[in-house]
Amino acid sequence: MLKHAVSTDQFLNKSLLDKLCDRAAEFSKMPTGDYPKPLKGMTIASIFFEPSTRTRLSFETAIQNLGANLISVENAGEYSSVKKGESLEDTIRTINAYAEGIVMRHPEIGSAHKAAAVSSVPIINAGDGAGDHPTQGLLDVYTIEKFAANSKTLTVAFVGDLLNGRTVHSLTKLLAIKRKVEFIFIAPDSLQIPKKYTDFCDYKHVKYQKFSNWEDCITRVDVLYMTRIQKERFKLIEDYMAVKDSFVLDTSAVKRMKKSAIIMHPLPRINEISVSIDKDPRAIYFEQVRSGLYMRMALLEYLYSD
Ligand code: NCD
Repeated sequence: MLKHAVSTDQFLNKSLLDKLCDRAAEFSKMPTGDYPKPLKGMTIASIFFEPSTRTRLSFETAIQNLGANLISVENAGEYSSVKKGESLEDTIRTINAYAEGIVMRHPEIGSAHKAAAVSSVPIINAGDGAGDHPTQGLLDVYTIEKFAANSKTLTVAFVGDLLNGRTVHSLTKLLAIKRKVEFIFIAPDSLQIPKKYTDFCDYKHVKYQKFSNWEDCITRVDVLYMTRIQKERFKLIEDYMAVKDSFVLDTSAVKRMKKSAIIMHPLPRINEISVSIDKDPRAIYFEQVRSGLYMRMALLEYLYSD
């Protein structure tokens, strides 16, 4: 069966999330020489129209760890025939001739669906503009299961650019399904979480609050999920400049947090977490990077199982 992974909505299923997290945990403990090779003999393409370090490299590592060959275009906007005017659809049709799967990142919301509509092989959405980033959401859920306190209800605060930050969009929905949570959305008013995500919280009976500063709530969060202000999504540089330093996590802010809290960030960070925080045991964003490899292996194995 052809299984795409284009939308977070496909993963809003508790038992599937449990299964993927369990498998990612198994991969994390497995000696690299023991990895199974369910993708042996296949070729998987990775085609990125937007910059990426972690998503692309972890996917490409995962693809090869599971036995597939990799073909890759890392700057597809410049170095694929899209630059000459070829449509995304024709690009996908072309890659279908070479590969059994396509991992794609693209600046347009909905581009992964567009690709899936013409593809005869699975499309895996590695981020579509300011829309969705399902695999980051999955790895973040797994990271929270692994590192967050075991309290009955987790208070998760999302901080930064919640309007354009696709990782927040994906994680909000997945966490609402995976476990008992309450959300605090902390952002400048112009970058608050879109209504469709709070509507989803209402629908799932998940409590949430919205704030434009963190003074009153940083002391009670279990998970602090920091994000970058998404400069590339702003039409006017002045608008970006006005909000770019809205939230900077420094030693004095971290001192006010619970001992058991964790600090996450999908990365890249610009200046929203000062480097002095990195050695605090609550800062787990580089462990989060590692989780990405294991979750992407779990996902690929799942997509190519019968
Ligand atoms: C994020 C992304 O691309 O959406 N990065 C990532 O995939 N780890 C976050 C960001 O770019 O700010």
